[in-house]
Amino acid sequence: LTLDDFVAGLPKAELHVHIEGTLEPELMFDLAQRNGITLPFNSIEAVRAAYDFSNLQDFLDIYYQGADVLRTEADFYDLAMAYFARAAADCVRHAEIFFDPQTHTDRGIAYETVVGGLNRAQLEAEAKWGLTSGLILCFLRHLPEEAALETLEMALTHLDKIIGVGLDSSEVGHPPSKFARVFARARELGLKLVAHAGEEGPPEYVYEALDILNIDRVDHGNRSLEDDALTKRLVASGLTLTVCPLSNYKLCVVEDMTHHPIPHMLKRGLKATINSDDPAYFGGYVNDNFRALTAIGLIDQADCVTLARNSITGSFAPDARKAALL
Ligand code: HPA
Ligand code: ZN
Repeated sequence: LTLDDFVAGLPKAELHVHIEGTLEPELMFDLAQRNGITLPFNSIEAVRAAYDFSNLQDFLDIYYQGADVLRTEADFYDLAMAYFARAAADCVRHAEIFFDPQTHTDRGIAYETVVGGLNRAQLEAEAKWGLTSGLILCFLRHLPEEAALETLEMALTHLDKIIGVGLDSSEVGHPPSKFARVFARARELGLKLVAHAGEEGPPEYVYEALDILNIDRVDHGNRSLEDDALTKRLVASGLTLTVCPLSNYKLCVVEDMTHHPIPHMLKRGLKATINSDDPAYFGGYVNDNFRALTAIGLIDQADCVTLARNSITGSFAPDARKAALL
């Protein structure tokens, strides 16, 4: 058994994946045709060639443009089914999936259309592959907190369809403190809380996510390592970090993969996990992300076991489900 085969067969959870970021160019073209939309690209190759980013905003611009082909309940269902099939092939047994309702409701797509299609796929994935999942509603942080509050209001009539809320999009200039009220409200509703912090933003943003938002998990968190006291606090709290190596590489959060902080995170005792973030845009699903690190000897087999276990223990799955997966 090669290390690749061993890692591929490890039961794992994926805790950081944006469903809109799983839109492969092939499906983008299919949906454009189905919905009578003309894409600003002539071919699948031209789409892939455009996926050359120098920072987060570069990526977000093209990612929001791609999401425009998603119009109907069937589109969201097809999108999620394609992800689940791919994740199941990577031995992902549980997935906690981000979705960005504002990207769709701001284009006139009903919240129910989005959640309806995603939820139908979730039920089918569990029946078909035994792949359990939960949805995490993300607020777009470049928009005002008022818009996030309105989005949470929309979710209230279908509260059982989500397990938590998160915070994504352009980080710098939009600190977690901007969303203090909407996160407090989500906590009152019994939702789990996560936030992207310390991807491009400074360690101060991670402190704010902890102290002001009261998050249950940190998405990315890379820049926490710049602050020793913060790192110690994250270790002591046992909070899980959802790290995304290929994303970090493609968005120039790391200079190259040999500089990826995952080995340091594990050495410091941080509860790091490996995730794909936006696999259709960053060049790979979960196992590709593991492979990007093992191929250059940055992590070994024991590290892979630790990372996969961290993903299960750090998930929001019920204890019985976690126990079954460990
Ligand atoms: N960071 C912030 N927002 C995002 C990301 C990310 O990596 N992916 C999709 N939206
Ligand atoms: Zn992300």
